[in-house]
Amino acid sequence: MNAQNIYNIIVAAGSGSRFGAELPKQYCLLDNRPVLMHTIDNMREALPNSQIIVVLNKDFIDYWIELCDKYSFKSPKVVEGGNTRWQSVKNAIDIIPTGAEVITVHDGARPIIDKNMVERLINALDNAQGAIPVVAVTDSLRQLNGDSSKPVDRELYRAVQTPQAFHAQRLIEAYSLPFDATFTDDASVMAALGYDVVLVDGDTYNIKITHPLDIEIAQLYMRQR
Ligand code: C5P
Repeated sequence: MNAQNIYNIIVAAGSGSRFGAELPKQYCLLDNRPVLMHTIDNMREALPNSQIIVVLNKDFIDYWIELCDKYSFKSPKVVEGGNTRWQSVKNAIDIIPTGAEVITVHDGARPIIDKNMVERLINALDNAQGAIPVVAVTDSLRQLNGDSSKPVDRELYRAVQTPQAFHAQRLIEAYSLPFDATFTDDASVMAALGYDVVLVDGDTYNIKITHPLDIEIAQLYMRQR
């Protein structure tokens, strides 16, 4: 496959309300540069010559342009985000040309991208409509039922990461469906059309920066690599 026909959507239009900082997590500094710049650079390294679209909240686009200037960083194409992650992905899908073969969708707040994992995802598309990285759950899990709860077998569950990779036309078709609150990631959008995805081994270092301490953890992981 020609890498130029792979389109990578990096969604970074969230407000990061769980992070507790003024600045959304994707703009916080990691090793002296905003998290999002690491994410974009690592995606460029994982899939050289592929296309990248970054989705930003409209109130932060001018700030991003300033940051790119300050850090001499060449921004990929920028698209305005929406009120939900689904809408943000859809806004990017809407500008992808018909020649696209593969679309990947990645959270801007996951700066550590393993090239081998991305290769596993793309290779898995030989036999599937979509491929998503997953890791085992290490905590014990309980299922809530009103005021009570019961233990469940964690071996039956996997935690889902990004990037998630799809045959372009299948994902475009899935995103033409109306929004549904059960869409938490792109694989769940594909499932609504009956398209299944295969699970590939994810990467425990591929954390989503959610809480302030995650910045320190990502820093440590990046230095180890
Ligand atoms: O909120 P959560 O951490 O699940 O968001 C996952 C990714 O989706 C983040 O990178 C976030 O910036 C992005 N997002 C978005 N547009 C939204 C909400 C979330 O691009 N409206």
